[in-house]
Amino acid sequence: QPGNVVNPFRRIIQQTTVVVGHLDSIDEQNQLVIAKRKNNELIELHYDSLIIALSQKSNIATIPGMAAHACLIDSVADALRIRQRVLDLVEEAEFEEDSAEQVRLLSFAVLGFGECASAIAVEISQILRAAESSYTVLQRLGWQVHLFDEQGLLSSDFENKMSIRRAKSLKKAGVIEHLHEDITSITQRHLFFANGQSQPVGLVINAALQLPTLPFKHAGELSGAFAINDKLRLLAFNNIWITETEKSLAHAQFVFTRDRVDLGCSAGFNAWAHSQGYASRPYKQKNYVIKPYTLGQYSLCCLGWLVISGKPAWFFSRLTNLLSVPGLERNLRIIIDWFLVLAFRNDIAVLSQATSSKLQMLHFKAGDEIFAQGDAAEMAYAVDSGQLKVLQDGRKIRDLGPGDYFGEIMPTHESKRIETVRCVTDCELKLVSQEDLKALLKSGWLMGKAIRNLSTHKAEHELFEEPLGMKRLTYVSKLNAVMTQEEILEIGRISSENNKKRDVTGVLISVRDYFFQVLEGDAVIVDALVEKISRDPRHNEVTILSAETACEERLFTEWGMKTVALSESNDLMLLAIGMMLQNIAQSYNAVGRYTQPALLKYLMEGVNPLTIPIKSTEKIVVSGSMTDLSGLYQTFFTKELVVVINAYLDICSTSFIEYGGQVAKYADACVIAHFSPDEVDAAIAACVDAETKFKVFVANNSLYSRVLCGFGIASGIMIEGNIGSSVKMDYTVLGEVVDQAVNLGVLARDNDRRLAVSEAVHNKAADSWCFDTATTSAIAVPETFAQVYVLADS
Ligand SMILES: Cc1cc2nc3c(=O)[nH]c(=O)nc-3n(C[C@H](O)[C@H](O)[C@H](O)COP(=O)(O)O)c2cc1C
Repeated sequence: QPGNVVNPFRRIIQQTTVVVGHLDSIDEQNQLVIAKRKNNELIELHYDSLIIALSQKSNIATIPGMAAHACLIDSVADALRIRQRVLDLVEEAEFEEDSAEQVRLLSFAVLGFGECASAIAVEISQILRAAESSYTVLQRLGWQVHLFDEQGLLSSDFENKMSIRRAKSLKKAGVIEHLHEDITSITQRHLFFANGQSQPVGLVINAALQLPTLPFKHAGELSGAFAINDKLRLLAFNNIWITETEKSLAHAQFVFTRDRVDLGCSAGFNAWAHSQGYASRPYKQKNYVIKPYTLGQYSLCCLGWLVISGKPAWFFSRLTNLLSVPGLERNLRIIIDWFLVLAFRNDIAVLSQATSSKLQMLHFKAGDEIFAQGDAAEMAYAVDSGQLKVLQDGRKIRDLGPGDYFGEIMPTHESKRIETVRCVTDCELKLVSQEDLKALLKSGWLMGKAIRNLSTHKAEHELFEEPLGMKRLTYVSKLNAVMTQEEILEIGRISSENNKKRDVTGVLISVRDYFFQVLEGDAVIVDALVEKISRDPRHNEVTILSAETACEERLFTEWGMKTVALSESNDLMLLAIGMMLQNIAQSYNAVGRYTQPALLKYLMEGVNPLTIPIKSTEKIVVSGSMTDLSGLYQTFFTKELVVVINAYLDICSTSFIEYGGQVAKYADACVIAHFSPDEVDAAIAACVDAETKFKVFVANNSLYSRVLCGFGIASGIMIEGNIGSSVKMDYTVLGEVVDQAVNLGVLARDNDRRLAVSEAVHNKAADSWCFDTATTSAIAVPETFAQVYVLADS
């Protein structure tokens, strides 16, 4: 229970100051733990010895759609929300008329492995069983709890030993176990499998857990296999201990609650002994006689060689866990709790918590200020009644009325209010905490969706890493060769069949040389499908015309893929439609060529680029410079000059993109691109590639034999975003690092070298690249550069 977690903890360790916060980073050089408290205040705690006790957190990145559609179970609050959601779905099913939809609403899926995922599946089954007597739909149709277990991949010896008994217990609990089922994607309503099958689901729970990363300030993030000695000390540091064993990190190891207590005691003792100059003691896992495997009322327990199950096992497992919890009062309370559970069945009325209690109602008078620009931002608000206005720098920017939401914090605005909100009339507002709002919005649950649909301003979408909900995408493409009507209808038939499985609808029209297609469905699925379709050799020049996200309704509900092949007819109208498509395709291609790739990417994802906030990100910036144009104007005719500039820009852009970079801008005959911070070697290789190709071009075109080029690479914080005026807006990059890269490129070019890099880039580059310092290669470096390295001639 939420209230019991932190409070008894304080009572158990009375001579300790307890600070509850979110770990931001560990500054191991200055021995500081930097934590963020609930009110967003950053605090620094000095340590002599640091003991880290990790708990597993959800692994959200494994399957497409998992982050968006599977509920996490990281905290007590998550567990309570899942319980509430299960009951909401039962309630929904009770009023649903379509029986297939009822079955979907009453199907639950748990993804994960081992004891934890099994226990969650059993728990959900128990909730449903307890609800059975109150809901006729459960009595009539039953329910399904599916457990998708990646067993075998990560299970420990102990779990392997228990697997047969566990399967029996799960079966008794009403859980359907699926082993090694390869889930390929998840949507709001379905799980999709590698064999093309799908499973309708009402709720998916992500119980795939992993150890979190440790954010060290100087040593970087440590994740997975930490190197630990047998005294539980992290080997890289002298004074940091961790309550894990190297063995348990390297191989799947079953960790009992009592092992956790032992690990804590051992790490604590060794940290203390180290600080006092005493000898540390190696940690050794004990072999306990009673080994519990907790699955609620279907628990198992090994007593030596005997495995017992059901209530006695549940009693023994709880008893052993209880014995490891200190404090008599707490133990007594837990025992009373158990007797109550044993004596009385769970009552559905007790289970149903009122969500409205989370929302606090506030009353304001006309003229009251809810918050002012620059205030620390903590809460979000929903307007129940009344009118408000939102002001920015003294100017009114919008009105708010009943049903509107405001005050949510954008990640980019660093928790300061960017607006002032004032009441125009008396108002009733509901208060929602940022945490709750974000959790709801991110959860992908219906409530989150409802809030998103209610919200009127676009900027709120920035709260999500990926846009949730339905996507509608339209494209035109050009046929690669003439196709018969039958061949086109065959594409439609296969598409329709496939799309129905993925819950995708739409229309495919073929007119003369062109295809026009609309696809609508879950965003993740549609993106993956378009990616696949664009690789189809039957057509080319796939040009996305529009991409709408968070669509509320489908336009083509009845068809998996309605296909119309118009090309066989000579009708004048069709000729006109054909020409129209051709024009659209050509003009979009032209727009595509005039637009920066980064911008094009946003447009194709359906994001309005003007709403993207300015970003500051660490990047490797690469610049390629051709001989100064002012010198070339005198040597060449304009036409000749354009040929060499185009060739240079083309060679550089192609090489940069090929090696994973993004072309950001052209400035005269200079190309600027950027790579992510860990791609130094790819950036160097891209420059070498472009230089070699340009040399070949020059060698084949003797007219340009005196045109030189040089490349520069710098690393640092780059600013990216919309910069410009009301007349012309550019999506561009700038910053000191960009200037530095350009200057390095010019330096290399003017000294007839291929590439010059800054010191930071040199330090990150692989040893296989050979660099000279500017001094040894007799290059005059302007004073503004600390140290410059030039790539040695191969
Ligand atoms: C213009 C065009 C539109 C297509 N639309 C779809 C579609 O909506 N859904 C689909 O599954 N396949 C579509 N396809 C076919 C896919 O590219 C692919 O051939 C098909 O999905 C079979 O893939 P598989 O062999 O991997 O199962 C389309 C192909 C073309 C040329």
